Amino acid sequence: MSQPLCLENLPRTVELERDGDGRPRLAYIDQRRLPGELAFERTGDWRAVVGAVKSLAVRGAPALGIVGAAAVALWAGNVGAGSPTAGGCWEIPPSFFAELGRVADEVADARPTAVNLAWGVRRLERLAHALAGGAAAPRALADELYDEVKRMEAEDEAVNRAIGAHGAKLLAPGSRILTHCNAGSLGTAFFGTALGIVYAAAAQGKVERVYADETRPVGQGARLTAWELSRANVPCTLICDNMAASLMASGRVDAVLVGADRIAANGDAANKIGTYGVAVLARHHGIPFYVAAPTSTIDPTLPDGSGIPIEERDPAEVLPAPIPGVEVWNPAFDVTPASLITRIVTERGVFEPGKLVY
Ligand code: MRU
Repeated sequence: MSQPLCLENLPRTVELERDGDGRPRLAYIDQRRLPGELAFERTGDWRAVVGAVKSLAVRGAPALGIVGAAAVALWAGNVGAGSPTAGGCWEIPPSFFAELGRVADEVADARPTAVNLAWGVRRLERLAHALAGGAAAPRALADELYDEVKRMEAEDEAVNRAIGAHGAKLLAPGSRILTHCNAGSLGTAFFGTALGIVYAAAAQGKVERVYADETRPVGQGARLTAWELSRANVPCTLICDNMAASLMASGRVDAVLVGADRIAANGDAANKIGTYGVAVLARHHGIPFYVAAPTSTIDPTLPDGSGIPIEERDPAEVLPAPIPGVEVWNPAFDVTPASLITRIVTERGVFEPGKLVY
């Protein structure tokens, strides 16, 4: 008999907190060390957060939105702490907003594809400007930014639970689901998007099994999705990416559920490299292909997916020991055309790709 769903076993992925002296710091799971070790890192240094984003210690679009915002809050916390003025008067230094702009740009540019990163950074930047208009002192401003990140963490979980509730309605009892990459709790503050639907449906007894693509080259499926499904007691079978076609042909997939890093206004959706191929396979086999993401992943400035910037990563992720004369192409994402997407699930409901409400 299968074990009951156990979400209590899933740790929170990212959390802004205060150290013993009241200074803000970001606690995050170093996902490079999973599945072997569940290790939490803690830092009060915004540049270290940028490093964690670039190295994929923290990854997944919604989680990137929160840590991007947290990096800005950490920077502001240090400025606020270091600027007492003569006579006990606290003022925002004249250089504050120029420096804020530089910091915000550096954080937002740490990775290009997931629009959530810039979304989180700009949300904090806008708030800082609004608060300064109200003549906030640096310390008060830093505290407000800290509180905003805490609100974003809570919002993220609520949004994911809403995605889960909407998406679970799409699944029939006994569903066998294929997923690609990790759009789970580890890619968010908590609960996950595509796996949020799995968790909501599993709580209703609808999930028979999740098939996790290993997701070359970094192995988010093998290392992260398999790990978190195992922790939550969701039956999971790991497959190599090149097995998805055979699995579908054998009749063992009822639905595909994936996350997204950026969705254009027409519903074209960027997600981890290989997602597009899975969508083509799903269409060929008549299997519904669902994309789950918060509205913060929608980029209304892009009419279609052709303008989505695709991150290219270090060739060493594909070929650890170089071979003379061999070049490596290592795009981290691809764009699935809206025409291959059955429905997009957001916190607002279930939408045809071309009729997104955001
Ligand atoms: O390179 P990554 O690991 O950040 O890529 C992550 C993905 O593609 C996820 O599917 C997406 O961000 C959704 S996470 C809820």
